Amino acid sequence: MFAVHLVSFFFSKLQEDPTKKVDRFLYSMCLNDGQLSDISARFQAEMKKGLSIESNAAAAVKMLPAHVRSTPDGTEKGQFLALDLGGSKFKVLQVKVREGTGIRKGEVEMEEQTYPVPRELLSGRGTELFDHVSKCLKDFLHEKNISLEKKHPLAFTFSFPCEQSSLNKALFLNWSKHYRARGLQGKDMIQALREAIDRTGGMDIEVLALVNDTVATMMTCGFDDQHCEVGLIIGTGTNACYMEEMRHVDLVEGDEGRMCVNTEWGAFGDDGALKDYITEFDRDVDAASSNPGRQIFEKMVGGMYLGELVRLVVLKMAKQGLLFDGCVSDALRTKGRITTANVAAMEEYKNGLKNTRDILMDLDLTPSPDDCIAVQHVSTIVSFRSSNLVAAGLAAILTRIQQNRNLRTLRITVGVDGTVYKTHPQYPKRLHKVVRRLVPDCHVRFLLSDSGSSKGAALVAAVAQRLASQRQKVDESLSPFTLSQGQLQLVKARMRVGLEAGLRSKGPSAIKMLPSFVYHRPNGTERGKYLALDLGGTNFRALLVHFKKGLQQKTRLYHKLYTIPLEIMQGTGEDLFDYLAACVSDFLDYMGVKHAHLPTGFTFSFPCEQTSIATGTLVSWTKGFKATDCEGHDVVNMLQEAIKRRNEFDLDIAAVVNDTVGTMMSCAYEDPQCEIGLIAGTGTNVCYMEEVKNIEKTGQNKERLARQEERAEGEEDEDDGMEGEKKAGDVETEKMCINTEWGGLGDDGSLDDIITPYDIEVDKQSLNPGKQRFEKLTSGMYLGEVVRQVLLDLTRGGLLFRGHVTETLKTPGIFQTKYLSQIESDHLALLQVRSVLQQLGLESTCNDSMIVKEVCGAVSRRAAQLCGAGMAAVVDKIRENRGLDHLNITVGVDGALYKQHPHFAGILHDTAKVLAPQCNVTFLPSEEGSGKGAALITAVARQKQKM
Ligand code: BG6
Ligand code: BG6
Ligand code: GLC
Ligand code: GLC
Repeated sequence: MFAVHLVSFFFSKLQEDPTKKVDRFLYSMCLNDGQLSDISARFQAEMKKGLSIESNAAAAVKMLPAHVRSTPDGTEKGQFLALDLGGSKFKVLQVKVREGTGIRKGEVEMEEQTYPVPRELLSGRGTELFDHVSKCLKDFLHEKNISLEKKHPLAFTFSFPCEQSSLNKALFLNWSKHYRARGLQGKDMIQALREAIDRTGGMDIEVLALVNDTVATMMTCGFDDQHCEVGLIIGTGTNACYMEEMRHVDLVEGDEGRMCVNTEWGAFGDDGALKDYITEFDRDVDAASSNPGRQIFEKMVGGMYLGELVRLVVLKMAKQGLLFDGCVSDALRTKGRITTANVAAMEEYKNGLKNTRDILMDLDLTPSPDDCIAVQHVSTIVSFRSSNLVAAGLAAILTRIQQNRNLRTLRITVGVDGTVYKTHPQYPKRLHKVVRRLVPDCHVRFLLSDSGSSKGAALVAAVAQRLASQRQKVDESLSPFTLSQGQLQLVKARMRVGLEAGLRSKGPSAIKMLPSFVYHRPNGTERGKYLALDLGGTNFRALLVHFKKGLQQKTRLYHKLYTIPLEIMQGTGEDLFDYLAACVSDFLDYMGVKHAHLPTGFTFSFPCEQTSIATGTLVSWTKGFKATDCEGHDVVNMLQEAIKRRNEFDLDIAAVVNDTVGTMMSCAYEDPQCEIGLIAGTGTNVCYMEEVKNIEKTGQNKERLARQEERAEGEEDEDDGMEGEKKAGDVETEKMCINTEWGGLGDDGSLDDIITPYDIEVDKQSLNPGKQRFEKLTSGMYLGEVVRQVLLDLTRGGLLFRGHVTETLKTPGIFQTKYLSQIESDHLALLQVRSVLQQLGLESTCNDSMIVKEVCGAVSRRAAQLCGAGMAAVVDKIRENRGLDHLNITVGVDGALYKQHPHFAGILHDTAKVLAPQCNVTFLPSEEGSGKGAALITAVARQKQKM
């Protein structure tokens, strides 16, 4: 009957479209795309302001860090109680999360009960509100037959702004929506809940985490869709959260990875940022609210206000005679008489006009069909504006994420909840359409949270629970790597004892202290062309070095790298030296100097007993070498033999030097204060200038040294006064460079108290068990292995990689120094750490990546501290040798660990400084490797032979 009437009426008034007058009346509520983009840009600026530490205090949009660092990854599990307070319903729930891996997704089971919150509690004392919450919780336990004796972990969705310093500390900022209970501002909501639970008594509850409803919604949806990194609520109130890069979250320490930020966008406009878009109706709604001046954006968008906006518009239109022939009812004048549910009903697809008429009649009005069309249109404009504003806000967030990640297109899912979105028939479609129009480069999926926010809150709690127990176990595993100042002092003292013992020792000693027969550091008179060979680091290098006249003229250096295959390193000695001879042959061809018969320096980075600068007997292989029939033989001889076997070219090997010595010489060419050489690379070692009188080696050695000294004195007598050469009383004649081979510290058990079970395993699996114990705690070849042992242990304990010990993880040598350096780089987000691990064949979650990074940090930190302690012993010894209160000295350094690792050098310097306060140590990285040093030594040796 009504329909027939409506149709005839419609045709009779065809010429007047009632929506037109509404459009005119509500012109300022209809926002075009240009205006929406402008609003979006304003919101972007507000987000920036809220994130920055300088402007946060004054910012309207608070951008609260949620302390949720990753979206669900399927490893969450456990049984939790949950409270959900702040939306249109207060609920208590039990959530069971079952873990799922791979294609088998996890599962969640939930039981819930809604409890009313009496009106008077909304504006009463805060403690009373929380008492009610906790009584409902107890009732729920009772109703569901959940044991009151057992301890139950609980997750709390609290849909109001809180300043969180962790998941379980949340200072309440202010109420919004229909809540305004007193006495809670600035209080910790976790604590308030705990106290209420205690007051109620009879329950054992552990409150693990508090989350905002947006965050919980994102997590709920993230459980089903890994791309969900935004949570959106369009319910009683409105708000959004998203995953922000930690480097932009100033309020939380650290730059790693991402953190969810609760924008609290409801407050957008509280500082006037939306004043151009605010209508008189918005002002009226605000003025009549319980929080005037606050939550301006929320009051234009949220379900609590949409009905009221429609009412105020309709009332004004009626008053102006534009509706109901100018009649206004008392009901229409009454606040709250048009609800958001009414707005949704008026816009229903088929029944909308009928519903509008019923609603208006309920308000004691007598609407004409045109009035119904007009009022329905008012609803549409008000709700359309709401979805448009949400679209503008969301576009700002999506643009920000896209820019953060430097992506041309972004694929992302937005998890959504709230009565407006769920119940308004047109709202979702309109919102999706406008968002896609505003950010065409984003492929956005909207995912409705099907089970409220508590599932997400429980997932957060599950992660919190796992992290807490994981943290404790990881801390326990890593604690042996933390060395106290006292322990480092002890290491320094033991290193000192070891150095002294090595200088005195007649037999073998842990620290070998090998005389190098290098007395002089370069003085700039060196010139000529030399060949240098460099064996023992990551690669074999051949170099041609040309020293030009004077220090001003740059030395020219040409080199070529050769990798040594494992089977050569660990095959026969003959094969190894034949291989080296072949590389040298190739290099001489390459440089066109095959027949130049160049004087050659040989950097041989292994311990050698020397009887002169030109001979060296290999004591024992270290690091990754194990070629047979070399130990106990002269390495110069072996190389000469190999060259002879080749019968192709000739070399004049004038000097054999350790890499530490070569490095010291190379750096001393730049800095005369350089009297120490340090290698922190595949292996570790130090050389330094020691007083000859302190080198109390074997009798034979002593004689040799004495002879050497005599010769030096003889040379002094014949000195022709050449610049830079020794003169009578020249201090340089009294010192000789000693290759300490400090990597052997601890071979006599002196480091047993700091050696961990992981180190023992690494030692056992090495080529030289029981040897080079200090080196195995500190150098590139072993650090990755120590890390791998810790990771294996943590994985076996179920703390990493979901407890799966993969073949990759069982593979020795996967963590080379360069990977450790990459993983520990400060600028690497966790996701990138994850991709480094992926390259190594290790599939990790963000949390796994964080733990791996921590393990690497603990192991490399200890290594750097130990080297620092060793260095402190060396510099203090030199200072005391010279009877000085204060020593200025330079250390020439080389090695991949020192040069590439992001923290190693810094920690080493700091430790040395603290442990040797009377020494001012400068570290000078060697620029051209130790080959140049070997060439310099050869130059000096050649000059001498000529004399
Ligand atoms: C629910 C959440 O699903 O959505 C609440 O569980 C949240 O915590 C709510 O506040 C938002 O919607 P509304 O319409 O109830 O305010
Ligand atoms: C190089 C030296 O520069 O550094 C080598 O020339 C030395 O002789 C090496 O062994 C140490 O670094 P790594 O990291 O290659 O072991
Ligand atoms: C209000 C609250 C906010 C919440 C939103 C949706 O804006 O301040 O924390 O997320 O409502 O419930
Ligand atoms: C090993 C060697 C040593 C070398 C060091 C650095 O410790 O034994 O001679 O200097 O590695 O390469």
